[in-house]
Amino acid sequence: MAKEKPAPAQKTFTLTNDQTGKSVKLPVLDGTIGPPVIDVRKLYEETGHFTFDPSFTATGSCKSRLTYIDGEEGILMHRGYTIEELTKHSSFLEVAYLLLYGDLPTQKEFDAFEHNITYHTMVHEQINYFYRGFRRDAHPMAVMCGVVGGLSAFYHDSLDIWDPKQREISAHRLIAKIPTLAAMTYKYSIGQPFVYPRNDLSFAENFLYMCFALPAEPYKINPVLANAMDKIFILHADHEQNASTSTVRLAGSSQANPFACIASGIASLWGKSHGGANQEVLEMLDEIGSIDRIPEFIKRAKDKNDPFRLMGFGHRVYKNRDPRAEVLKGAADEVLDDLGIDDPMLDIARELERIALQDEYFIERKLFPNVDFYSGIILRAMGFPTSMFTVLFALARTVGWISQWKEMIEEPSLRIGRPRQLYTGPAQRPYVPIAKRK
Ligand code: CMC
Repeated sequence: MAKEKPAPAQKTFTLTNDQTGKSVKLPVLDGTIGPPVIDVRKLYEETGHFTFDPSFTATGSCKSRLTYIDGEEGILMHRGYTIEELTKHSSFLEVAYLLLYGDLPTQKEFDAFEHNITYHTMVHEQINYFYRGFRRDAHPMAVMCGVVGGLSAFYHDSLDIWDPKQREISAHRLIAKIPTLAAMTYKYSIGQPFVYPRNDLSFAENFLYMCFALPAEPYKINPVLANAMDKIFILHADHEQNASTSTVRLAGSSQANPFACIASGIASLWGKSHGGANQEVLEMLDEIGSIDRIPEFIKRAKDKNDPFRLMGFGHRVYKNRDPRAEVLKGAADEVLDDLGIDDPMLDIARELERIALQDEYFIERKLFPNVDFYSGIILRAMGFPTSMFTVLFALARTVGWISQWKEMIEEPSLRIGRPRQLYTGPAQRPYVPIAKRK
């Protein structure tokens, strides 16, 4: 009889307190790929110490099977498939299925999923009136935070997070309705009537149709634009535990409903260090205005006394290349060629990239163009105003957020997220009555 192999010994990491000389062995966990992690869950119990990592530069906040990033090599994979393969061969809805359910769908599974999504594209008619409470010049992300949070006031029948069917319906509703809400936000901002979804169109085609069709004339789908839109959605679908995804997970860990959690993700995405950067890139390129002014802006980006940064450059995780930016650079050429647009912004962007990549400051700090660098040029060519760029990011990322949320809720060990802190305020002191305060 074959002998049973002995279980591999648990890997550990020993931490020694230099003051007391006491040591503690901490378990080391291995993922499928990527660096091992030191399990510090028992650290406080065993040593009375917390860890300190305010911006999470060395902290794994959860286990996840969705997305893998190798920042040194510039690799991004969803469920084991590289982003290059997915943008080449897949579609956004298929990637959504992959993220949500774990594997690529069979034709039958895909047809059923597509049906479920298209079946949910319309929003409750009352939501139309909700929009009217907003100023027409409101930033579209402000409107999105409000209306997406408001969905929990409309869809009471899918709020029980412990019911798998309700969780699934909420996920389908969010993926299906966010494009409708995003398009309504755009139409509201320009004073045009809302355009109802058309379920005979693909996900990307329908979105372009809801944004750009007018009741007065027929709308013709441009397949090059629809294809580029779909690629942009795939490239933004998920990106493991970034700020907005971590926000969604933290909100969800308290058992908040999924619509409220996604609204919290939208709020976090809005910031210019995160999704808000795509709007900032175009505004920066506009401000630079011509190739001869690039050196002036490079100088400002390097000046520590100037808060200006090259928007669309740098990434917390990617230290070599952002694979999403490379796909987008190619897509920008395709779209501009098809539309016959000679956008001077693209020339400025290319030259900025060329100069920055040769500059010691950017080389030393490993600053490369990120996903936001080229996306804005494509979106502008399609006809979107800069204020809508981050909304489009949120639309695509909703798939990642809700998949991560679902994964977390389905984890048997779910507990509320509750970080601790390094307190640096005053120690205990006696209360002084107001008359005696100096
Ligand atoms: N321009 C000039 N200098 C930069 C830039 C930049 N875009 N990004 C980082 N640096 C410098 C920074 O000043 C610092 O220099 P030093 O070591 O001399 O103090 C060094 O590089 C490290 O920067 P950091 O701020 O500590 O890096 P981080 O990992 O905390 O921030 C980042 C990452 C993406 C927020 C940052 O690179 C940045 O602000 N980039 C511009 C905004 C942007 O494009 N954001 C989109 C990110 S990708 C999509 C998304 O996540 O939504």
